[in-house]
Amino acid sequence: MKVTIVGAGAVGASCAEYVAIKNFASEVVLLDIKEGYAEGKAMDLMQTATLNGFDTKITGSTNDYSKTANSDIAVITSGIPRKPGMTREELIGINAGIVKEVSANLIKHSPDVTLIVVSNPMDTMTYLVHKTTGLPKNKIIGMGGALDSARFKYRLSEALECPPSDVDGMVIGGHSDTGMVPLTRLATRNSVPVTAFLSEDRLNQVSEDTKVGGATLTKLLGTSAWYAPGAAVSGLVQAIACDQKKMFPCSALLDGEYGLSDLCIGVPAILGKDGLEKIVEIQLDDAEKAKMKESAEGVKKTNGLLDV
Ligand code: 2OP
Repeated sequence: MKVTIVGAGAVGASCAEYVAIKNFASEVVLLDIKEGYAEGKAMDLMQTATLNGFDTKITGSTNDYSKTANSDIAVITSGIPRKPGMTREELIGINAGIVKEVSANLIKHSPDVTLIVVSNPMDTMTYLVHKTTGLPKNKIIGMGGALDSARFKYRLSEALECPPSDVDGMVIGGHSDTGMVPLTRLATRNSVPVTAFLSEDRLNQVSEDTKVGGATLTKLLGTSAWYAPGAAVSGLVQAIACDQKKMFPCSALLDGEYGLSDLCIGVPAILGKDGLEKIVEIQLDDAEKAKMKESAEGVKKTNGLLDV
């Protein structure tokens, strides 16, 4: 199982580390345009192999896509991250050109690859990859909801004053500060609806804190987060690599599902060896449907900035 990660920055390198530690991939190739950077990160990570107990071979490459040949899965993290006060959508001008070039280079050397898009604005970048590569739609997956759901569960565990492992919940919709739809109605604490423990006001605060989870960290760190994004991507990679049939909220190209079409937005999806194997249509209430519709309008507005 060969995994390529383009972008050896904090998110890409964290993803490489988590994939390696999970020890399901024979090889991880880290690629970056900065001279020696990916090679250095790969070597540093390989020097943790005996400490963290993995046999995955991690190598680095400075922009030589031949080293990524025959990758099963490739993760696109390249592009600029946002600075404090920026929205993800403001990155489109620079990141669209990068993502278009990177995806073309990956497919040239790995025509059967499954692509996972992380670069922001992620839903629009995922849509761009669909429009410019012609890969089968099950082979293109946007990662946002897995991260947003992890932040949602963190905020719920904080409010519930319980271990995060007791909490389950999902965020669908756009991966944006205003477009996320945390499904508070369906969230549970050890199978008990969280509405049994938390007031509507407190749950609304959890939702709002979740939506700005990325922006909160960008303000604290001066740049975008990387541990949780990297870990979230590694979970998607593992589900595909190990044919787990796990369900994650992923940015998928919709063709009528949830009453939406011709956009990529976060919906529950089953991931396995064939990539995004199935979009799962869950029953939403009227308020959730309205939020998804509004979120989709926001994503489509950003898509309109693309020249595809
Ligand atoms: C985040 O929310 C980078 O979009 C990613 O942290």
